[in-house]
Amino acid sequence: MKQPIKGFSKLSKEGKIEWLVNEHFENPEEARELLKEYWHSNEKRQQLHDDFIENTMTNYFLPFGVAPNFLINNQLYTLPMTIEESSVVAAASKAAGFWLKRGGFKTEIISTTKVGHVHFNYAGSFETLSTLFEDWKPKFYEETEELTANMRARGGGILSIALVNKTDVLENYYQIEARFETCDSMGANFINSCLEQFAQVMRADIELRTDLSAEDRDLQVVMCILSNYTPECVVRAEVSCKVEELNDDKDVSPEEFASKFQRAVRIAEVEPYRATTHNKGIMNGIDAVVIATGNDFRAIEAASHTYASRNGQYSSLTHCKVENGVFTFWIEIPLALGTVGGLTKLHPMVKLAHEMLGDPNSETLMGIVAASGLAQNFAALRALVTTGIQKGHMKMHLFNILNQLEATPEERDAIVKHFTDKVPHHNLVVSKFCELRGIPVPKSGVNKDK
Ligand code: MEV
Repeated sequence: MKQPIKGFSKLSKEGKIEWLVNEHFENPEEARELLKEYWHSNEKRQQLHDDFIENTMTNYFLPFGVAPNFLINNQLYTLPMTIEESSVVAAASKAAGFWLKRGGFKTEIISTTKVGHVHFNYAGSFETLSTLFEDWKPKFYEETEELTANMRARGGGILSIALVNKTDVLENYYQIEARFETCDSMGANFINSCLEQFAQVMRADIELRTDLSAEDRDLQVVMCILSNYTPECVVRAEVSCKVEELNDDKDVSPEEFASKFQRAVRIAEVEPYRATTHNKGIMNGIDAVVIATGNDFRAIEAASHTYASRNGQYSSLTHCKVENGVFTFWIEIPLALGTVGGLTKLHPMVKLAHEMLGDPNSETLMGIVAASGLAQNFAALRALVTTGIQKGHMKMHLFNILNQLEATPEERDAIVKHFTDKVPHHNLVVSKFCELRGIPVPKSGVNKDK
């Protein structure tokens, strides 16, 4: 049985690798070699990556692709996309090309406010707490003046502070709810620092209030934390054109396409099973740009899905209408993104991604990311309601199988040609590969399709 290790974090990087490969691998040599093979050849760059997190062993590569021809608010962008899934970049590029000829994407920032809470217990009366809060409120602003100075100079800061009574859902539970404008930064550190300062004010003040009863002084701060749910930091992206302009290489009329497409969106609006997959496709486009631009994709995911459930049932993030012969398709999504701070100036590829986009501010980036999500959803639905998604998907899947098989360029060409008009299921590709090499088909080589 494996034993826990004490003091792992204190070991050197080499020491950690030695422990890891000896403890967890049948062939430590091979594991060690692979871990080191993925080190950056430039020591300084490697050090940078080592320092991003704790216990770094090596790097984990994801492809960095680009999707050109995104016309967003009449500006042409090439989107950086970091994602492991085949077909996503191709789909984004295809949708961008489609809408490029039809006016492109239009985006609008609906709001940019973020929220944080001091969650606390209070056993006294709400009346006393309300009076205490009125005393605390100016102090919250005063005691955070130093913290907020830079943000205020940039036009941001604390927008409002309120006391919220949550005792209807949990006994003795209250919140100090603050709303913030964090300009071009995602703002997590700024918000959390302000909230912790509020808590200090509360603790210090209650300590001194010997005039109050024991019950009215019974206050415990549970935690101070921003909320990743940002329903007031929302962007809308839209595409639209006349129905007749939806003509394409597909075998359906524009009217039939518009009607089937609208129906597909409607299904995602009312059916959570479909909404989950539908929104997953949207997140393919969102996350890829969010990761490439060094933003926190977990926060974006969490907020998006809460937003998608805001009316009590998980539903589609995109919507579609056909009115007076005009097809309109749009997304509304909370995107708390930063273009300063965090990884944005640290990670060389993130810096490159920002430069590629013309060093956008956070509002412009919100529009770009929303457009990417909308494009992805458009591409997915377009394929789903016409040819089905497997055709495009399987082509990329074929390349992945060929890489796995370590096919030579000649073998690749022959196999790609062979599958031009056939669906490249894993077992069929392996069989064809073995046939070309004149080797028997291995039993483990079949039925690996997702
Ligand atoms: C696959 O990653 C995403 C799709 O399933 C999205 C969808 O079904 O809309 C194609």
